Amino acid sequence: MGEDIRNQIKELLKKHNAVLLAHNYMRDEVQEIADITGDSLALSIEAAKTDADVIVFCGVHFMAESAAILSPGKKVLLPRADAGCPMADMVTAETLQQLKSEHPGVPVVTYVNSSAEVKAYSDICCTSANALKVVRSLPAEELIFVPDRNLGRWVAKFVPEKRFIFWEGYCPTHERMTLQAVLQKKQEHPDALFICHPESAPQVSALADHVCSTSGMYDYCRTSSAKKFIIGTEAGILYKLRLDSPDKEFRLASPALFCPNMKLTSLEDVLLSLQTLSPVVTVPEEIRLKAKGALDRMLAIPRD
Ligand code: 13P
Ligand code: SF4
Repeated sequence: MGEDIRNQIKELLKKHNAVLLAHNYMRDEVQEIADITGDSLALSIEAAKTDADVIVFCGVHFMAESAAILSPGKKVLLPRADAGCPMADMVTAETLQQLKSEHPGVPVVTYVNSSAEVKAYSDICCTSANALKVVRSLPAEELIFVPDRNLGRWVAKFVPEKRFIFWEGYCPTHERMTLQAVLQKKQEHPDALFICHPESAPQVSALADHVCSTSGMYDYCRTSSAKKFIIGTEAGILYKLRLDSPDKEFRLASPALFCPNMKLTSLEDVLLSLQTLSPVVTVPEEIRLKAKGALDRMLAIPRD
């Protein structure tokens, strides 16, 4: 049954000239079958450059929307239409416009975990992998940062010369990782390094040996001489961390690090999506063009 469904998916991918992209938080079996896995930045870049006709995006809605913004000629499928991101829903085009009107002329930096409409009202996007570079690229001394208060405050620590207007959005999954849980894990494993995502609460990231995006964690753990790590991000990351470094030990910082939305997509959903070529994610052209401007400005910033 398991092998059969994988073969059916592979055949349909070939038939439709489709590419399967999966975020690093997806279920293990979805990451295993994906053509490309990655963090939000890597997947945006892949979506922009692929010559496939169909993109099957195994992730959450805003990621598929970014693919639709960057690849207008392609069909973008999100196998689970109900896979959303609560943080992205914490800011709307209306509430952002209100904030902008209170701070005329102040540029808006928007985390990609946001809707196409919100991106359309933004000057530039960022991901957790490039947020600091994006902020540093702006000549302005003051900026609006939406929607993640934790990523925003983490970045702000490195650019004391700039003034930030924060939005109080947050990732419920990362904020469920409490200081107590991390302290307890560190006590149980005093020889482990603690690595966490910048969506974590400030008191948690203050304890970290390294703070980085999901792909940053792979690089850091693979190249580090340490043998043991406490991981402070969504559990899906463990799949490739363990694959990359089978000789190292990885412990989740808290059992609460499960994002229900990231865990929705099953192989059955992927198969059904390829059989029906739905659900399709689209963005109205007027919004798409404006949102693309904000994403393009981000993508124009050179990677390391
Ligand atoms: P990155 O993959 O950019 O690190 O983002 C994590 C995340 O929370 C996506 O929802
Ligand atoms: Fe959104 Fe957090 Fe889930 Fe990422 S982990 S999709 S930010 S709720």
